[in-house]
Amino acid sequence: MPDQQPEVPETGTQGEEVAGPGPTEWGEGRHGVGPWVVEHPGQPLPTEPNFDPELLAEGDRRNVVDAYRYWAREAIVADIDTRRHPLHIAIENFENDANIGTVVRTANAFAVDTVHIVGRRRWNRRGAMVTDRYQHLMHHPDVESLLTWAIRNDLTVVAIDNTPGSVPLETAELPRECLLLFGQEGPGVSAAAQAGALMTCSIAQFGSTRSINAGVAAGIAMHSWIRQHGDLDVAWK
Ligand SMILES: C[S@@+](CC[C@H](N)C(=O)[O-])C[C@H]1O[C@@H](n2cnc3c(N)ncnc32)[C@H](O)[C@@H]1O
Repeated sequence: MPDQQPEVPETGTQGEEVAGPGPTEWGEGRHGVGPWVVEHPGQPLPTEPNFDPELLAEGDRRNVVDAYRYWAREAIVADIDTRRHPLHIAIENFENDANIGTVVRTANAFAVDTVHIVGRRRWNRRGAMVTDRYQHLMHHPDVESLLTWAIRNDLTVVAIDNTPGSVPLETAELPRECLLLFGQEGPGVSAAAQAGALMTCSIAQFGSTRSINAGVAAGIAMHSWIRQHGDLDVAWK
């Protein structure tokens, strides 16, 4: 069954789409640290270029791991870039912006190389909880363009859906240089996408629902890849 929700983008006074606060911003003040002089009394201000003078002066309330406190956004992205996984994620014509946001946030958490968005370019980023600013995103007009890009970049495409002929994700060996491709809420992975994939993997289900929420399915599949190829010694502790 489709797991769509009505899309209600926030709009500004001119009717333009604006980014609204996400759940972590609603609890303003719960997260993060105050100004450096308050948190580290008596200690000199860090002078390394990674640090952002404005954050040092005013505090850092962003949803980032402690190791990146007070770091400039560009410095954080550059640091993640040194150790991104050879794992790419693609979402085919997702209609629900919250699902796109969920995928982007989870991809960020797993240091995915790039999230490929097939279809519409504009989406409400609220659900990504600002994680999209640290995650490489790429847009493709259609699945054919995505598949061509994957071939050129030596990535093996694995479709994720519970369609006939799919193999269990739980026992499948996922390629290391891999692009996991997820299908639209409702119709699922298109025939063209499945034809371009090495295999289609399904997540085992045991209840009554036909399918899992697409964002949740993406999280499960990303973690399957991490279990097979991730180096836990370099994960945040
Ligand atoms: C909501 S599902 C819809 C398609 C589904 N085949 C159906 O019959 O209803 C949307 C996407 O979520 C992912 N998904 C949901 N449940 C899954 C499962 N059990 N196994 C693999 N992928 C799943 C797939 O990428 C799928 O294309």
